[in-house]
Amino acid sequence: MPFDRKLSLWYHENRRSMPWRGETDPYKIWISEIILQQTRVNQGWNYYLHFIEQFPDIISLAAAPIEKVLTVWQGLGYYSRARNLHAAAQTIIEKFNCKFPDHYQDILSLKGIGGYTAAAIGSIAFNLPYPAIDGNLFRVVCRLFGIFDDIALPTTKKLVEEKCRLLVKEISYSEFNQAMMDFGSLQCIPKNPDCERCPFADRCYAFQQHAVANLPVKINKIKVKERWLHYFLVINDRSMLIRQREGDDIWNSLFELPLIETPNHGSQELSMQLLQLKHPPHADFFTTHKLTHQKLNIYFYIIRNQEFHNKNEYLSIPIENLNHYPFPKVIQKFLLDFTTIDTI
Ligand code: ADE
Repeated sequence: MPFDRKLSLWYHENRRSMPWRGETDPYKIWISEIILQQTRVNQGWNYYLHFIEQFPDIISLAAAPIEKVLTVWQGLGYYSRARNLHAAAQTIIEKFNCKFPDHYQDILSLKGIGGYTAAAIGSIAFNLPYPAIDGNLFRVVCRLFGIFDDIALPTTKKLVEEKCRLLVKEISYSEFNQAMMDFGSLQCIPKNPDCERCPFADRCYAFQQHAVANLPVKINKIKVKERWLHYFLVINDRSMLIRQREGDDIWNSLFELPLIETPNHGSQELSMQLLQLKHPPHADFFTTHKLTHQKLNIYFYIIRNQEFHNKNEYLSIPIENLNHYPFPKVIQKFLLDFTTIDTI
């Protein structure tokens, strides 16, 4: 039996149910794919439903103020995804006559959509013949065919794409891509897959050659930059200081507390002097937060009824209005804990 027919049988027995499965509206498929770019299916599920409820179509998304989009996105992280969604919705209105484009290159031209996402949307919504190549698909195909090339290389991606084109004979690309997503997530998992139960064990190079643990080959590890952020919850009576982030850095256009960034842990004392507080504060809370390319060490300090040296750079807001402003998830979590329990 050809690979794709067997995959189809496996898919019909094992596929995961998700709110966007069976969806034919390209807008909704697009939203689901953007949410799933950095978020696990279980985590993304309710955010997807909420987003679609708030913005049921391209027009409502394009017409919404960006602040509203960011607030609905709040908690999902990687806010550039929300900004790109908003910008792309406006492009669709202006350039594509309010209709989600149905050509691969046009889909790819939209902000925030790369090769994988264009292939996923194009295949699922319009059955365009493009394999959606992500980590799951790389893993399955490299194991199946015994491809030992570094998956970070463009040539490996080309090779994997060619292999996919050989594999798809009888089923649609829509079914192939969705089945491969589930097969990679449920059966051909990164560590200790249950190969005895795999329908492709008889034709899998890696299983036959005892190379499952060695495939796929990933050489280029992402370099992670470490940062130290000191956030100050400056409270006077029932108001506090915040500001909107800008520039070419993380969390662009989200709100934050007064911040001092130091080059390492050790320079804390120095930075405290900058504050000109009567007593150098101790961090009230410490947490770390991982982004794809950065590890953030975050210290939170609560400063009550003291002058803050450069408070003019900040906006003073009543504490009870906090939820009018979108904050990065990690700051929001601190604020939820500390402004409800402690300060109000
Ligand atoms: N990961 C990315 N896109 C997905 C989809 N449509 N279904 C399941 N997992 C996915």
